[in-house]
Amino acid sequence: MQQTISFVLDGKVQTIDFNGQYTPTTTVLNYLRSSPVHKGVKEGCAEGDCGACTVVIGELDGENKIKYKAIDSCLVFLPMIHGSQLITVENLSQKKGDEETLHPVQEAMVSGNGSQCGYCTPGIVMSLFSLYKNENDPAKESIEDALTGNLCRCTGYKPIIEAAAKACVNKGFDKFTQCEKQIVELLLQIKNQSTPLEIINEKQKYYQPKTIKEALELRKKIPDSVLVNGATDVALRVTKKHERLEEIIDLSAVEELKKCIKTESFIEFGAGINLEDVKKLVEKELPALFETLVVFGSRQIRALATLGGNVGSGSPIGDTLPVLMAYNAEIKLQSSAGERKVNMNNYILGYRKTERRPDEIITSVIIPKPSSKTIVKFYKISKRKDLDISTVSAGFSLTLNNKTVESISLAYGGMAAVTKLALKAEQYLTGKFWDRNNVEKAMELVAAEFTPISDARSSAEFRSIAAKNLLLKFWTETKQ
Ligand SMILES: Cc1cc2nc3c(=O)[nH]c(=O)nc-3n(C[C@H](O)[C@H](O)[C@H](O)COP(=O)(O)OP(=O)(O)OC[C@H]3O[C@@H](n4cnc5c(N)ncnc54)[C@H](O)[C@@H]3O)c2cc1C
Ligand code: FES
Ligand code: FES
Repeated sequence: MQQTISFVLDGKVQTIDFNGQYTPTTTVLNYLRSSPVHKGVKEGCAEGDCGACTVVIGELDGENKIKYKAIDSCLVFLPMIHGSQLITVENLSQKKGDEETLHPVQEAMVSGNGSQCGYCTPGIVMSLFSLYKNENDPAKESIEDALTGNLCRCTGYKPIIEAAAKACVNKGFDKFTQCEKQIVELLLQIKNQSTPLEIINEKQKYYQPKTIKEALELRKKIPDSVLVNGATDVALRVTKKHERLEEIIDLSAVEELKKCIKTESFIEFGAGINLEDVKKLVEKELPALFETLVVFGSRQIRALATLGGNVGSGSPIGDTLPVLMAYNAEIKLQSSAGERKVNMNNYILGYRKTERRPDEIITSVIIPKPSSKTIVKFYKISKRKDLDISTVSAGFSLTLNNKTVESISLAYGGMAAVTKLALKAEQYLTGKFWDRNNVEKAMELVAAEFTPISDARSSAEFRSIAAKNLLLKFWTETKQ
């Protein structure tokens, strides 16, 4: 078992032994801020909302090429970057003697006046750097999406968007392309030497297994440990609630959990696939899940957050839950005793209570491909479109036969302590004409079925009206 972590930073392998100032739940942000040469990265919110802490992670893909992604370093525990390349704003420019050449994204930000006070700028530059490496000549929507996770309070986004369009035209070519071979060698060196992590000190035990089998054995031994994958929920317990997580099993290094299997009839997503990758996998085949992920957090959040983590949180406002219900998905649970599948509609038992036993982990989510007669849609109502939590969400599916409802599923988030089906409305509509009259009657049943709460996001009355109107919207979009 390995007690130290290694990653590449500033072109060199850095190793941390956790015997000094860092703990296994020190965030990458705090690690960088403790170094005199990496002060560009900033803390704004410490909860994934502002993007001031954005850095880029380079990871080896299956073909030993480096894949770059922007992440919020305030949400990432140090062991999660074991075996990766960590790139900060200080690494972008190129020095030759006394001369410093800015990276094309920095150059475009300077020449286009993309910065004023500068607090957000290193984070914005890193988001643009990730865009530069991944997309050539990106569409405006893609540039906006890449910047959704970065708040700027003084420049205004127009010059920043223009800088992105101006810079991202070199097919990703830059100094990182030139030195990719050397970095790949360093990453392979770390990979080939690494065994599962077991970082143990007086106060914390942090395990990072590499296989499902190892994860399940650990889970059996310590069923009360905190499971973590992307940490976009769990990290807030450390950064906001200042909890000390004593025993952690980090699933982020289990490659088996990152596999996707596509067949004629279903798609099985490993629980550890990040949501940005899920989004890329489903655009054509599962458009409602795609639409869910378009408005899920930001690119930095989706690069970390996993499907297993969203289902695992069991949150009544978890965005994938209603749409997974509408798709009639199954959750695969595994323990060292074996595996079982639970239909998503039976998975949630109460407020953040699920069917999963303590010794089990979610290993995959299986989504049957809907028949050509079935329409599935997702709706999210939030105070703003991007990077916001749902006030009310809905996943609906409908199969019609001669304008008559053959089957319908109406799953709502944000309306109760759990994501819940509007069963009475479903029963009422089944076998009836899919017309406005019947839908309006069903809307009243929806309102009667839920007793939502009032909170900072909205009043109970607003939630009731919104839930009814989402059904009407669904009808108007499907009546043809
Ligand atoms: C800024 C910000 C924006 C967000 N926006 C959204 C949003 O738009 N919509 C939304 O729904 N959520 C949102 N979230 C919440 C969060 O990103 C999601 O819930 C995410 O899917 C969690 O995935 P994760 O891998 O990061 O989970 P983690 O934080 O690692 O874990 C979350 C929970 O799931 C459990 N868990 C993780 N993996 C497994 C597994 N394999 N088996 C069993 N249990 C497991 C953990 O123990 C924990 O209880 C946001 C969070 C932040 C910080
Ligand atoms: S500090 Fe705000 S997103 Fe990390
Ligand atoms: S330049 Fe001041 S916050 Fe963006």
